[in-house]
Amino acid sequence: MEFRDVILLLHPFVAVVVVFPLIGIVVNRALQTRQRRLQTATEGKSKIPPVVGQEHVQLGRWLTSAVIGVVLLALANDVFGNIIDKNMWTQNPWKVMLISLIFGVTIASLTLLYQAKARLWRGVFATLAGTSLVVLGCQEGVYRKTEQWYVSHYYYGITAALLMIFSLAILREIYQDKTNRWRTVHIVLNSIALLIFIGQGFTGTQALLEVPLAWQEPYIQKLYEQQCDKKPCTVQASPAPQATP
Ligand code: HEM
Ligand code: HEM
Repeated sequence: MEFRDVILLLHPFVAVVVVFPLIGIVVNRALQTRQRRLQTATEGKSKIPPVVGQEHVQLGRWLTSAVIGVVLLALANDVFGNIIDKNMWTQNPWKVMLISLIFGVTIASLTLLYQAKARLWRGVFATLAGTSLVVLGCQEGVYRKTEQWYVSHYYYGITAALLMIFSLAILREIYQDKTNRWRTVHIVLNSIALLIFIGQGFTGTQALLEVPLAWQEPYIQKLYEQQCDKKPCTVQASPAPQATP
């Protein structure tokens, strides 16, 4: 396997080994937290230990970072892969620097969101982190599948990441709001996030089937160009560019 293939595999590897196991534990603790709260409200006591709420929140905080991390890995692979392919560094170094800066801004604003206490700053850093993710997603090289957005790994991935940022931003409100309105908002939005994560498992493995290894790429491109799924064809990769004497 070439170096590029290994970089491509980093994203699915982290998703499978880190993100999905975390989702499992976070959802388990979420259900226990809810069950405990409802049992205590109706029966006055519950056998579920009170620590489940804390565990849900601590692991939820990790989950936010893990999801943003995995999205940044995929976007970095797409965007920087395109920069290298198109030799953009020599043609437009400012654009490359700006894109790298936006990666930095995303990570910095997420870090500051973890620290922020005041509602205003949480709003500011959450908006900054979310907007920079969207801006990165709009760059050349990202496979967005816009014509089929309803099954797009990209659109759902960005939506899930934004929902995680939002969960982190409203964490304090969930505790402070006595009417449980924010709690309900959290449950509704994150149930949607859970469905999206399940969908990401499907569309992600589908993407793995579709993305060729580096050496296969010129052949696969020809298959698409000649529409080999519709008619018989013979595929030969283009010859390597001749070195000029
Ligand atoms: C797939 C992801 C998630 C799901 C399905 C989920 C779902 C839930 C549910 C069902 C509850 C219990 C609500 C109740 O008491 O009725 C809860 C509580 C809570 N969640 Fe999440 N959540 C998720 C991720 C997160 C994340 C990423 C964070 C923060 C970064 C978070 C923060 C909280 C907080 C602060 C509470 C209140 C805990 C308590 O009462 O002790 N959740 N969540
Ligand atoms: C937490 C769940 C996941 C999220 C939020 C997520 C998000 C993303 C995003 C935003 C992209 C960039 C857009 C694109 O190139 O399509 C992407 C690409 C990709 N994802 Fe995922 N993904 C997740 C899980 C998975 C899983 C489980 C797999 C496979 C087992 C996977 C495989 C891929 C592949 C192969 C690509 C293309 C990479 C490339 O072209 O550079 N993803 N993902």
